Amino acid sequence: MYPLIRNRRLRSSEAIRSLVRETIISPSDFLVPLFVVEGKGVKEEIASMPNYYRLSLDNLTKEVKELWKMGLRSVLLFVKVPDKLKDNQGSEALNENGLMQLAIKTVKNACPEMLVMTDVALDPYSSYGHDGIVADGQILNDESVEVLAEMSVSHAKAGADFVAPSDMMDGRILSIREALEDEGYLNTGIMAYSAKYASAFYGPFRDALDSAPVDLKNVPKDKKTYQMDYANRFEAIRETQMDIEEGADIVMVKPGLCYLDIVREIKNEVDVPVAVYQVSGEYAMVKAATERGWLDHDAVMMEQLTAIKRAGANIIASYFAKDAVKLLG
Ligand code: PBG
Repeated sequence: MYPLIRNRRLRSSEAIRSLVRETIISPSDFLVPLFVVEGKGVKEEIASMPNYYRLSLDNLTKEVKELWKMGLRSVLLFVKVPDKLKDNQGSEALNENGLMQLAIKTVKNACPEMLVMTDVALDPYSSYGHDGIVADGQILNDESVEVLAEMSVSHAKAGADFVAPSDMMDGRILSIREALEDEGYLNTGIMAYSAKYASAFYGPFRDALDSAPVDLKNVPKDKKTYQMDYANRFEAIRETQMDIEEGADIVMVKPGLCYLDIVREIKNEVDVPVAVYQVSGEYAMVKAATERGWLDHDAVMMEQLTAIKRAGANIIASYFAKDAVKLLG
């Protein structure tokens, strides 16, 4: 009780503040998302994601070597697929020499110890921009899950350490786990996007991969029949528990900042590692406001990343990974 207790004593200098600090960000917290494109010598800045790039395989090699030197040890791969290779079934996703499969091998060649996680969903391969197969204005569940399981095996075969299904179809974790077991990939991990919300914060990502749902009659305009309603909390727990029962090694909440209540709730509920994806729109907001001089970039970035970890994230997928690690020195 005051005056016996004066809480400000523990805040009186940086030395004491750092001594009692509860949450510390370090390079090993991060999973670095990377966008891969066809071609040679390509390093294209994404318009809505300043200082973030699509890289061709040669530049991917350079990038992962740089990440490794900085102490970043895990990447999450996404590919931008040319329109001519897209169809409703996402057939290109299963091509053994497809861009994702080559990207996995490229990272492993450049940096054998780098942990490689891959995005598993149909949207970059879908002519309709959906995470599953479209029929009669619906996204088919079980038919999509079959492709996702095959896709996961194909990534494992190419050398992926973890597959990261981001599609939100029902039962996909079990099917993927069984397919990996059947093919002998016993040690391939699954990081499930368990509580993935139908969020407006994915806009810049869809620009990066040209993967937004197309505007056609009989094609749903949004992903609300599979991604979660952002008004819901209990559903996030149910989704997460089901993914763990089905064989997920790591569960994820996405997006980050608006969903930290969900992160804490899930962290209290489950005993597997919890990942959080600070998504493209969150990155874009910070870049836009700080370019205008309205906010301090580094300060806001570190405050947000620390808040995500404090909420319960064991792993943070973030476009700020390099910026943050540079700042940590
Ligand atoms: C696609 C996928 C998305 C993201 C990761 N995987 C977009 C979506 O669901 O439409 C979003 C990542 C981001 O915004 O940074 N399955």
